[in-house]
Amino acid sequence: MTAEYPTHSEYADFLEATRVSYDAIASAYADRFSDWRADSSPLDRSLVSAFAELAGEHAPAPVADLGSGPGSVTAHLHALGTPVFGVDLSPRMVALARRAHPELRFHVGSMTALDLPDETLGGILALYSLIHVPDDHLPGTFAEFHRVLRPGAPVLLAFQSGDSEDRLHLSERFGQEIALDYHWRTPDHVIAHLLDAGLRLYARTVREPDGEEKRPRAFLLAEKPLAGGR
Ligand SMILES: C[S@@+](CC[C@H](N)C(=O)[O-])C[C@H]1O[C@@H](n2cnc3c(N)ncnc32)[C@H](O)[C@@H]1O
Repeated sequence: MTAEYPTHSEYADFLEATRVSYDAIASAYADRFSDWRADSSPLDRSLVSAFAELAGEHAPAPVADLGSGPGSVTAHLHALGTPVFGVDLSPRMVALARRAHPELRFHVGSMTALDLPDETLGGILALYSLIHVPDDHLPGTFAEFHRVLRPGAPVLLAFQSGDSEDRLHLSERFGQEIALDYHWRTPDHVIAHLLDAGLRLYARTVREPDGEEKRPRAFLLAEKPLAGGR
């Protein structure tokens, strides 16, 4: 990372709060969200399948599932034939993901400072994890995505759509005391940051809330341009 972006130590407070919170709720979260295939809508799965197909053009370069949680989406991608590993801030989540999916690799780490060499990933998936990264850290995070992706490789982001500036602070979830911030954003807001980082927008989809969901779900498919643009 260059001095242009906040250093990792400046990230420590919000990362630490997020890590401690997800460690506290990991077990209940994993019980509730252990089967992404059953919980997701056909549209969500079709977008993940499209992402997997685009990433497949870069195989055997692996996909990183950033904020992999209990690993159920990672396992879904694996079942689609995608070489994939998970990265999560919460060591407890990583332990549960490893236990549930011993055939897959999961690492403790942060999407804000990836411990990966340049241009080695065939894709990045980040479903409902970017929501815990504050706005002023999006430029550094997307610069990391750009750095580690192979030219032409795709990114799929999913997040609850809401007004930028909108933030939810939860002090309790699943009966556990936590301190977790959720940052809601419009697709346009996130797209502007992706473009600023040198990524190219491929598609945007917003679907209405389904079942118990309260907010529309945004899916952004982007890619790192080939050298010279595409
Ligand atoms: C709402 S869960 C989503 C899990 C999974 N992606 C899914 O869709 O089921 C958010 C996950 O992102 C992780 N997370 C939050 N901030 C992160 C960061 N900076 N780097 C890596 N993981 C992060 C949390 O620990 C948590 O496991």
